[in-house]
Amino acid sequence: MISSILQGAKILATGSSVPDLCLNNEDLSQIVETSDDWIINRTGIKERRILGDRHKSIIDLASSASIEALEKASMNPADIDLIILATSSPNDLFGSASQLQAKIGATKAVAFDLTAACSGFVLGIVTATQFIQNGSYNNILVVGADVLSNWIDWSDRSTCILFGDAAGAAIIQSCPKEDNGILGFQLNTDGSKSFQLSIPYEKNNEKVMQKQSLNIFQGQFKNIIMNGKEVYKFAVSQVPVSILQCLKSLNILPEDIHWLLLHQANERILHAVANRLSINSNKIISNLNKYGNTSAASIPLALNEALNEKKIKHNDIIVISGFGAGLTWGTVVIKWKC
Ligand code: ACO
Repeated sequence: MISSILQGAKILATGSSVPDLCLNNEDLSQIVETSDDWIINRTGIKERRILGDRHKSIIDLASSASIEALEKASMNPADIDLIILATSSPNDLFGSASQLQAKIGATKAVAFDLTAACSGFVLGIVTATQFIQNGSYNNILVVGADVLSNWIDWSDRSTCILFGDAAGAAIIQSCPKEDNGILGFQLNTDGSKSFQLSIPYEKNNEKVMQKQSLNIFQGQFKNIIMNGKEVYKFAVSQVPVSILQCLKSLNILPEDIHWLLLHQANERILHAVANRLSINSNKIISNLNKYGNTSAASIPLALNEALNEKKIKHNDIIVISGFGAGLTWGTVVIKWKC
């Protein structure tokens, strides 16, 4: 892959942000019929953060994650060429990336949203890398942010226990080809199973306008619906296939990887995928016990934490996989270059 690129690309710095309000499993058992034991045994989640403040939005989380990454990189926001905001819960259906651009003062950056649920950050990294490796841009801010608490049915115990709100950011920068740190990727979509996990828009039966033959119906978005069992089966069967395909294309063996960083959906999924690949469980990066499933934010949130804890070393190989609604899933393999 390296011979076909004009420029190398690497992750320069990361940042993350979570809301202050912490909801633990005991708190949830006051709202729905569940228990701390059930949630921990089935998911590994102990608590999650919820954006309770009505004056705060996804932009506040996304901007504080971005500012942390910019500060770590000692970079001026005006040096950012492009912002990709991966989210499925924007505060404006026309897109929220432009609000993020304004809030952090990235005045020269082009900005757009990318919607791919829990695979959003992986797709964001891959998209950013194309712009860098073909020589179009030098500095790209990729943010994964979601406030799925806005879309949860708080009376549905099968989903409300899973999700939390957060944002994570990464600055991808051009570098010499020899230092390229984004080694390769493998991406997939299966739209025939989109109904398994969805926030559907449904039209009402009543017409909002009826004039001669003109009938106009309007509706609204519903809450999250998920067939947990089917999504679980999909994740543990398809994610290892994506990882193996990606590693094979790079001539890397599973035993050569240093870290396995999967979308933080369920502790059982992380271990089942590692088992299938014969990857030792001490290579799994996991922090979902504290934050739950934060959708597009989960991978950069866990990556930033692992970096802050100085777990990841120069030249470590990190396999990153996202999976979720769409259905979408995919892998990006990184060699840590900072
Ligand atoms: N507390 C107590 N009992 C519960 C709860 C709860 N919170 N939720 C469900 N149950 C009950 C069910 O009613 C069921 O009871 P029954 O046997 O009497 O019918 C029993 O527990 C088992 O339910 P299952 O749904 O079969 O439980 P499962 O072991 O599959 O765990 C879970 C459910 C945690 C949702 C799991 O299926 C899962 O993690 N799925 C994958 C989710 C995922 O990965 N999403 C990723 C992407 S997210 C995105 O893209 C936005």
